[in-house]
Amino acid sequence: MVCLGNICRSPIAEGVMRHKVKQHGLDWDIESAGTESYHIGEAPHRFSQKICKEHGIDISGQRAKKFTADSFAAYDKIYAMATDVYEEIKQIGGAKADMSKVSLFLNELSFDFAQGDKKKDDRPLSVPDPYYGGEEGYVAVYEMIDKTCDAIIRKYRQFEN
Ligand code: 4NP
Repeated sequence: MVCLGNICRSPIAEGVMRHKVKQHGLDWDIESAGTESYHIGEAPHRFSQKICKEHGIDISGQRAKKFTADSFAAYDKIYAMATDVYEEIKQIGGAKADMSKVSLFLNELSFDFAQGDKKKDDRPLSVPDPYYGGEEGYVAVYEMIDKTCDAIIRKYRQFEN
């Protein structure tokens, strides 16, 4: 799960996905990272921690780390939280970048994201960056991440066993 700072979006995605993977008894290792260095070593943003805690998920122990080119060998699947992150992942990977492993996270949502008030092709490609906004942005981001993690589990759990 990769975003820019690894303090707002991808820590939520790591926490939510870990939680769901455990609930489903799946043997998947979940990690998150950021493409930028500004926040390395920091705990998740307080609103990311708060919204996760409200859903029974403790992400307070996570610490921000940077996405590296070696992640392409270490992981089977890499999710970019946003289109700018996707481009950064490609850049950082350089010769090691196996972009067949990388997907835009929201592309895993197989239903009409806006549920009625928008056409399917208008659905957002990027989880919005909540860093410069208020708490409500983190609530919206959580909802997107939660639904998308469910979709990813539905898609890939069939390959288990
Ligand atoms: P994130 O949010 O990528 O979801 O962790 C951001 C956090 C920090 C910055 C940008 C985005 N920043 O510019 O410092």
